[in-house]
Amino acid sequence: MLVTSNTEKKTPLKSLDTLFIKTYGCAMNVYDSSRMSDLMQEAYGLRVVDDPKDADVILMNTCSIREKAEDKVYSELGRYKKIKDKRPDLIIGVGGCVGQQEGDRIQKRAPYVDIVFGPQTYHRLPEMVKTIRRDRVRVTEIDMPEIEKFDHLPKPKVEGLTGYVTIMEGCDKFCTFCIVPYTRGAEISRPVADILVECEQLIAAGAKDISLLGQNVNGYRGTGPDGEECGFAALLHLVGELEGMQRLRFSTSHPMEMNTELCEAFAEIPSLMPYLHLPVQSGSDVILKAMHRGHKREDYFKAIDELRLHTPEIALSSDFIVGFPGETDEDFAATLDLVRRVRFDSAFCFKYSPRPGTPASKAEDNVPEMIKDERLQALLELLREQSREGMAQQVGKSTEVLIESKGKNEGDLQGRTPDFRIVHFKGNPRLIGQTLPVKIVDAYAMSLRGELILAQ
Ligand code: 5AD
Ligand code: SF4
Repeated sequence: MLVTSNTEKKTPLKSLDTLFIKTYGCAMNVYDSSRMSDLMQEAYGLRVVDDPKDADVILMNTCSIREKAEDKVYSELGRYKKIKDKRPDLIIGVGGCVGQQEGDRIQKRAPYVDIVFGPQTYHRLPEMVKTIRRDRVRVTEIDMPEIEKFDHLPKPKVEGLTGYVTIMEGCDKFCTFCIVPYTRGAEISRPVADILVECEQLIAAGAKDISLLGQNVNGYRGTGPDGEECGFAALLHLVGELEGMQRLRFSTSHPMEMNTELCEAFAEIPSLMPYLHLPVQSGSDVILKAMHRGHKREDYFKAIDELRLHTPEIALSSDFIVGFPGETDEDFAATLDLVRRVRFDSAFCFKYSPRPGTPASKAEDNVPEMIKDERLQALLELLREQSREGMAQQVGKSTEVLIESKGKNEGDLQGRTPDFRIVHFKGNPRLIGQTLPVKIVDAYAMSLRGELILAQ
């Protein structure tokens, strides 16, 4: 822990009552934020508020996966500074990947920030807050104490009907464009027994849709109940067959770690939902190699074919990067061709941006911005078309919908299909929490319209 003194005057401290957390980035960060709020609730009884102006502690859980992340953090911090000018006791913390990457540079640039922490050290937040209040200092804590984090966390919580469980952290794949291996550290898998206990707790607390999280979940290699190594497909069987497990998902996967057992798992485990996010990044073998992805386009096709052989209705999503250094028109055409052949239901597309310290950042970022924009638009257009077609194909089908909440329109309920599409339909709010059959009657870009199929 790096502690620096704070020269501000020592007035009596107000008690800590409220917490505001601003979350950026991936599902992993959403999960980490909920654990941070659990920890702070447990240690200080803090209540979470929706407006930073009402908070005694403001935490930012940041993401550095794409460019401009730091800029966004500093501009948001500017807003918090105004609050702190009026209430000097306010504690401001910056965590997550920008915290990890920038370290005490953050406090040099924004001296009103009290805590800087990384994705591996947030379990020590209560202790950091105690040090700050006792000694009136600033704290930076960004070391990577491996698995230690997993041992210090309170029970996971259910938000609505959804629960999240981290099964592994970090990444050893070192894709040349990606900062994650440097910010999240090496791949570490949690023991199977710990994961099972956490899932059971979530189920007991009412979770009906549980997601297993990690940077490369299908690279999971944890210690099984028998002391032997347990792979991801075996873990899915154990978790998916827990009593009361209704819906199981996972994210994110790597094409290199796909295997037959995993492709078959979707058909074999009734609770495993037919949805897979499998980032491919590019359809060109030249670019895949330069990205150090460890597989060719043909391997991706093979994995998808095998998945569809067992689970034809599986919904697929992916991540794409356009304008990677050296990407030619021909390379980009290969990406479009891959998309046409695979057909995706949804996707995230990014323009390449160099991340500090990554191998790709040493190459010239030589695809002109205009070309990156054009490629991004062309790719988005094709993906939107496929997504629209995928939604239209749902019309007329009957599907099991987990009813999550009221819809925005009066009298509407909102739920999710097994393949994660949002459905709106008329129904009594008492049905929230149940899974019921719904007939799909209309399709829009982002959601479906349905009618409850009432029991005769
Ligand atoms: N430039 C553009 N996109 C990136 N991603 C990760 N790093 C970069 C980068 N330097 C994208 C990848 C990854 C997703 C989470 O973010 O597509 O799968
Ligand atoms: Fe980043 Fe590649 Fe690891 Fe995904 S697999 S987190 S893109 S290095």
